[in-house]
Amino acid sequence: MPAKSLTGTIRVPGDKSISHRAVMFGGLAVGETKVTGLLEGEDVLSTAAAMRAMGARVERADNGEWSIHGVGIGSLAEPNSALDMGNSGTSTRLLMGLIAGHAIQATFVGDASLSGRPMGRVIEPLSKMGAQFTASAGGTLPLTMRGATTPIPIEYRLPVASAQVKSAVLLAGLNTPGITRVIEPVPTRDHSERMLAGFGAEMTVEEVDGERVIELRGEASFEPQTITVPGDPSSAAFFAVAALIVPGSDLIIENVGLNPTRAGVFEVLRQMGGSIEYLSHREVGGEPVADLRVRHSALTGIDVDPGIAPSMIDEFPVLFVAAAMAKGTTTTRGLEELRVKESDRLTAMADALKLAGAHVEETEDGLIIEGSGGDPLPGTSGAPVTTHLDHRIAMSMAVAGLASSKGVEIDDTTPIGTSFPNFEKLMSEASV
Ligand code: S3P
Repeated sequence: MPAKSLTGTIRVPGDKSISHRAVMFGGLAVGETKVTGLLEGEDVLSTAAAMRAMGARVERADNGEWSIHGVGIGSLAEPNSALDMGNSGTSTRLLMGLIAGHAIQATFVGDASLSGRPMGRVIEPLSKMGAQFTASAGGTLPLTMRGATTPIPIEYRLPVASAQVKSAVLLAGLNTPGITRVIEPVPTRDHSERMLAGFGAEMTVEEVDGERVIELRGEASFEPQTITVPGDPSSAAFFAVAALIVPGSDLIIENVGLNPTRAGVFEVLRQMGGSIEYLSHREVGGEPVADLRVRHSALTGIDVDPGIAPSMIDEFPVLFVAAAMAKGTTTTRGLEELRVKESDRLTAMADALKLAGAHVEETEDGLIIEGSGGDPLPGTSGAPVTTHLDHRIAMSMAVAGLASSKGVEIDDTTPIGTSFPNFEKLMSEASV
C-alpha cells in the first residue's frame, strides 16, 4: 500500500550467503561452532536440515544463538532420504560440491522454481573431480549423485561468473588430496574464501593477469569457530530503495554487510543521486559492515555499467523499481544470468512493472526503463503481479507499491519467507 514515509532505525536479518556457509562449514568442523545473527529463512533451514541428515548436530538455543557440532571433513554420512532443498539454489549447488568429495550417495529435490534451474554448471566440474550424476532432463532436479571414492583435484576456470559454482568446486576440494585451483575471470562474492580461511583451510587467493586465482589444499581439517553474521545487504537494498522513493523518508538501516563483492547496488543508487551515507564503518565476523542512513532523493536514470553486475546480481529487481521512479532513462545490460535465478528476473520484473504502470522495454540481456520522474506509479488494478515463486520479485513489487497511487497487488507473498521472514512486519514498523 502507498506509504507516508519510512523513518526510524531498523535491522535486517543475517546475510543469507554467509549463513549457508556458516552452517555447512560448522558441520564439517569437529567440536562446537557457535553462530549469532544466523538468517532463519527457509533457504538456510534447508541447508541445516541437509547437514543434520549427513550427521551434523545443528541446534538453535532460546536466545537465538545456533550451535553446530560437525562431523569432520571426510566423515559426512549418507543421507537416508532425499535432501529437500525447497527453493534454494545456494544450498543445492554448494552441497553438491561438498558431497562430490565424499563417497556417499544423495538425491536432491526442490520446488518448481528450483527444479527448473540449471545444475549442469556444477555437474560439469564436479564430474571432472570424479563424482557421478543422474539428473532430470536439461541437467535439473530431481538429481541423484554419488561422490568420488578417490576425488581428483582440478584446475577450473569459471565459464560463468558464479559464486555458487566457485564454492561448489572449492568445497569438493576440501576432501581431495592436492591443490584444487579455481580461476575467476570476473570476481564474485568471496564469502566462501573468507570463511574457509577462518576455519583454518590452507588456501591462497591471488590476482594473476587480472584474474582471481584461488588455491585450496586438501585434505583439509577445520577448527570450530564463533561466527557473527552481519546483516544482509541484499535485504537492506529493499529498504534502501523504499526510503529513496517514498517522500519524507529518512531511515537508518543498522549493521549492513558491505563486502565489496556485494555492495554494488548502493554505489549505483548513489550514482543515480540517492542519498545513502555509510555510518560507523566497522568489521563484523571478518566482513566490512556499516549503518546506512538513507533519505528520500530525486533519482536520475543512468546507464548501469555491466562490470558492476556481479557485485549486485540479486539487487537488480529492486534497482529496476528505483529506475521506474527516476527522472529519465535507466539502461541495464549484460544481465543474462538474471534469467536463471529463482525466476527469469528480466521477464518477471518487466511484466510486473508494466502491470504497475511503469514504462519498461525488455532486451535480451537487460531492461530499459523510462522513469516517472518521482511521480507515483499508477499501481495495479484488477490482475495482481506474478512472483513466480521468487522472493525478490515479491519484495521488489511490494516496494513499488509503496510509491504507487493504488498500491500493487502481489499474487503470492509466501516466497518472502525464504530469505526475509520479517519483511512485512519490518516494513509496517518503518512506514508511518
Ligand atoms: C550466491 C551466489 C549468487 C546469488 C545467490 C547466492 C551464493 O548466485 O545470486 O543468491 O551465496 O553463493 P550465482 O552463483 O548463481 O551467481
